[in-house]
Amino acid sequence: MITRDIPLDSMQATGALGQRLSEALQVGDALLLSGDLGAGKTELARAVIRARAGQPIDVPSPTFNLVIPYEFRDLLITHFDLYRLEGADDVMELGFLDALDDGSVIVEWPDRLGDLTPSEALRIELTAVSDRRQARVSGPAAIVERFLGA
Ligand SMILES: Nc1ncnc2c1ncn2[C@@H]1O[C@H](COP(=O)(O)OP(=O)(O)OP(=O)(O)O)[C@@H](O)[C@H]1O
Ligand SMILES: [Mg+2]
Repeated sequence: MITRDIPLDSMQATGALGQRLSEALQVGDALLLSGDLGAGKTELARAVIRARAGQPIDVPSPTFNLVIPYEFRDLLITHFDLYRLEGADDVMELGFLDALDDGSVIVEWPDRLGDLTPSEALRIELTAVSDRRQARVSGPAAIVERFLGA
């Protein structure tokens, strides 16, 4: 496991991180976005999805739908918000494992995954300090380096 800290001093910085992550994203990848309410999980997910789309498509928070799929020519990205779920049984019902088989997943509140947490995931913990954000990226070295460079 390795860790990298990335300052997100502006929305542009969040957009740039989203762009980098989207370029490396492939089938089977899981981006696990943790952090408090309002820390910037949805904003980062939006940046990844828009970068992959190549245009500023509508990317609503999945707070109510819980799961929103984005089907692109070369990749399915499924965006989950697990905040209101109780645990792994609910996650199974949302089709989490199928989404991971068929494409990549971006997950807000990944602590709800329990035993379903993918071992090869890229974890991104977001923190808000006044109007700034910070991303702590961690995971197996090969995965972190594939997304962020060596
Ligand atoms: N650099 C930044 N990166 C991301 N968000 C930022 C940044 N600076 C300010 N913000 C603001 O922080 C808020 C982040 O909200 P967002 O919906 O992404 O949070 P969240 O972590 O998904 O919360 P929730 O747990 O409720 O889903 C937005 O209002 C956004 O405008
Ligand atoms: Mg959110």
